[in-house]
Amino acid sequence: MGKNKLKKFAEIEQMDHVFQFPFARLESEGFPLKGNWHMGFFNNNNPIVIEIGCGRGEYTVGLARRFPDRNFIGIDIKGARIHAGAKQALIDGLKNVAFLRTNVELLPFFFSSGEVEEIWITFPDPQMKKPRRRLTSTMFLDTYRKVLRPDGIINLKTDSPFLYTYTERLVRLNRLPVVANISDIYHTPEALTDILRIRTHYESQWLDRGLTIKYLAFSLPQYLDLTEPEEDDIPLDTYRSYGRNYNTRNQNDTIS
Ligand SMILES: C[S@@+](CC[C@H](N)C(=O)[O-])C[C@H]1O[C@@H](n2cnc3c(N)ncnc32)[C@H](O)[C@@H]1O
Repeated sequence: MGKNKLKKFAEIEQMDHVFQFPFARLESEGFPLKGNWHMGFFNNNNPIVIEIGCGRGEYTVGLARRFPDRNFIGIDIKGARIHAGAKQALIDGLKNVAFLRTNVELLPFFFSSGEVEEIWITFPDPQMKKPRRRLTSTMFLDTYRKVLRPDGIINLKTDSPFLYTYTERLVRLNRLPVVANISDIYHTPEALTDILRIRTHYESQWLDRGLTIKYLAFSLPQYLDLTEPEEDDIPLDTYRSYGRNYNTRNQNDTIS
């Protein structure tokens, strides 16, 4: 492992607002802040919003700056990525930010039922070949429901036509109430709010390649058996099979 990565791991280890907990301890002792994030960490009763697969945590920090009366927790399995957002939150003196390094599948170990108000999922890998790893699959939605308040909102921001179509179908099939649905945010000026202007690391890369950015927000009722939509006829994102520098302007999902 590179020296830089080791340095980042050592730094987040020392940060009071970054939490990482080995699975063995989770199972034996439980996570001390589960059900107690409000008074045990944030010292207030403000709503808690989590960002899943936060990477460098641009949404976690960006939302925290804009909404001091809400609490934000960025969650990712990769510590070196979390380091960037965690450091930025310190530089900004933000008291309403925390980061959690874990696999999202373990969310119910870290939050009690209804403790989370809202979820952001920003530019997840669409996992076209591995639906069980897809962060908007019914399996993950069921996991989110274990911690999300009833009818809490899920916000998905993505470059992926495949993931957008799949999630739209899932929402429609299960009659989940849609809060917003914009297929190209940067060409829909009336919909481009200050919040949607927050730009993540991956988003910048996809924009540089000429891709359109999509936003879908829906609420998640507590009691409902969720069904997976058909996905065999959804076209795969061809651009993902190319290297980062591949110019996508000739692809059919580009912007002019
Ligand atoms: C494509 S990156 C996007 C990062 C960031 N949201 C952005 O837009 O720049 C997807 C992120 O999700 C994280 N991730 C994927 N599956 C995860 C899981 N099951 N649990 C925790 N993190 C996960 C990865 O580690 C990665 O940082």
